[in-house]
Amino acid sequence: MEPVILTTERLVLRAPGEADVDAIVQACQDPEIPRYTPVPSPYRREDGEGYVKLIGEWWAEGSQTIWCAYRDGELVASIGLHRIVEHVTGGHAELGYWVAAPARGNGYLVEAARAVIDWGFAELGLARIRWQAVVGNVPSARAARTLGFRYEGLQRQALTSPRGRDDGWMAGLLATDDRTPVEWPIL
Ligand SMILES: CC(C)(COP(=O)(O)OP(=O)(O)OC[C@H]1O[C@@H](n2cnc3c(N)ncnc32)[C@H](O)[C@@H]1OP(=O)(O)O)[C@@H](O)C(=O)NCCC(=O)NCCS
Repeated sequence: MEPVILTTERLVLRAPGEADVDAIVQACQDPEIPRYTPVPSPYRREDGEGYVKLIGEWWAEGSQTIWCAYRDGELVASIGLHRIVEHVTGGHAELGYWVAAPARGNGYLVEAARAVIDWGFAELGLARIRWQAVVGNVPSARAARTLGFRYEGLQRQALTSPRGRDDGWMAGLLATDDRTPVEWPIL
């Protein structure tokens, strides 16, 4: 698959290239990103270079579609659909993201995620998108709830990262859901 560009009111989402490595490496110095995602820590330039290269390969094979989101040319987030599985009933994938620390709290994540979710349901024909987070990641859970995900439970030690295992909050969004936010018992 060729990488796709998505545009929203304030953002341009495109697959990152080599010229984007420095900004990615800088964003990934924030400890909240390795705390809550599988991103390595310390995060070196070679990690950023490897990530950008892998994103190109994932797009080509259609296994994961990852974008960086830019506001006026400045990197504000990375977001994507991971572990895409095709199926005759419609496929499924997992939504993953981080927002660069200085850009947080501006609604960029929700804005970018809506575009990615719309694209995944419409263009990939997904039936379901999964969300999971380390227990206690309230900002991410609030974002997922706002996007219309329904909370589906806690899975013990279900999440792995370079730092070990964590209990995980799980949620899902179906193509047929109306996306009106619903109550989450953990929030
Ligand atoms: C989770 C993350 C992407 C949210 O980014 P953001 O820029 O704050 O997102 P938005 O501005 O779109 O806001 C999303 C929601 O989070 C809430 N939020 C933001 N910061 C918060 C905080 N510190 N505490 C509680 N809620 C917070 C916002 O109020 C909003 O909720 P609402 O829709 O109910 O009002 C960001 O905190 C981040 O990158 N964290 C580190 C990496 C990470 O956790 N990735 C997700 C792994 S599952």
